[in-house]
Amino acid sequence: MKLEEVLALGENFKRELSAITNAKALEELRVKYLGRKGGKLTEILSSLKNLSVEEKRKIGPAANALRGKIEAALENKAAEFEGAAVMGDLDVTMPGKKIETGHLHPLTLLENRIREIFLGMNFSVVEGPEVESEYYNFDALNIPAGHPARDMWDTFWLKHSAKGGMFARPNSQSEFGLGQKLLLRTHTSPMQIRYMKKHQPPLQIIVPGRVFRFEATDASHEINFHQVEGLMVGKNISLANLKFVIEHFFRQLFGAKTKIRFRPSYFPFTEPSLEVDIEWKGDWLEVMGAGMVHPSVFENVKYPKGTQGFAFGLGLERLAMIKYKIDDVRLFYSGDLRFIKQF
Ligand code: PHE
Repeated sequence: MKLEEVLALGENFKRELSAITNAKALEELRVKYLGRKGGKLTEILSSLKNLSVEEKRKIGPAANALRGKIEAALENKAAEFEGAAVMGDLDVTMPGKKIETGHLHPLTLLENRIREIFLGMNFSVVEGPEVESEYYNFDALNIPAGHPARDMWDTFWLKHSAKGGMFARPNSQSEFGLGQKLLLRTHTSPMQIRYMKKHQPPLQIIVPGRVFRFEATDASHEINFHQVEGLMVGKNISLANLKFVIEHFFRQLFGAKTKIRFRPSYFPFTEPSLEVDIEWKGDWLEVMGAGMVHPSVFENVKYPKGTQGFAFGLGLERLAMIKYKIDDVRLFYSGDLRFIKQF
């Protein structure tokens, strides 16, 4: 006798068991394999004693294990038929079918939390267009054509420029400005301009939204990602207010002991400009750009001289990666359910 025969017997049993649909057939199957006289496995088991020591050592454990498996499988199947016997076709003992409900993407969860925190500080939430004109994305933010700072934003330029109608000149009813070159917004900052052109201070808004950058993708770069812009303008709004708001925000999001740090930086539309780091697991991580709104920006929206305010822009993916311990930004857009279902 060979070990393979025992294994093959196990396979045959499995196949036959899966075809069984009632208790009577199940009993016949039991007799066929485990019947005291003539059961296929019984025969193997009782012939073990005729084998050499070496064969016994090989085949004995496999045959005994198979007996255990067959007994358990028969019992399970029998339990199924028991329920059916009680209720006819309906087996009330079967576990219910779980209905899967949809749920929110981690980025949406985080964005909602951010909205909540800023609403708590009396900020309004506004949104703007993803297709922008050169004027709003750059010029009005003090980044004229040819300005070296334009290189900070690798831009997807669109083939068509703005036509009349809703694409008429800035300052008329226009959306983008006649003849304006169009692009996919590289940041949410153009909404600073759009909002200030329509509203007078005091104001405090955040602008969540998707932005685009023309760059090679890797674990920390995507061609599209999300930002939340912040803007607060009013009498005597100062860097101290910026610091308080940002600190309060991060402490709500990451815990009361979260430390933040300001580092000097450069953006054409803020002065002074800074970058905000938060302390996370012993490291300083860069999480947003910010600063006091540049006087030229206020001039572009025709606010009176001396107006003060601050602005900031944070990267949503960056924060989500910290908060949920995700090491590759591309996972957010992979559509991989194994990833998505963890949230
Ligand atoms: N718009 C900047 C960026 O995308 C961030 C920023 C926003 C900086 C507001 C200062 C003020 O990098």
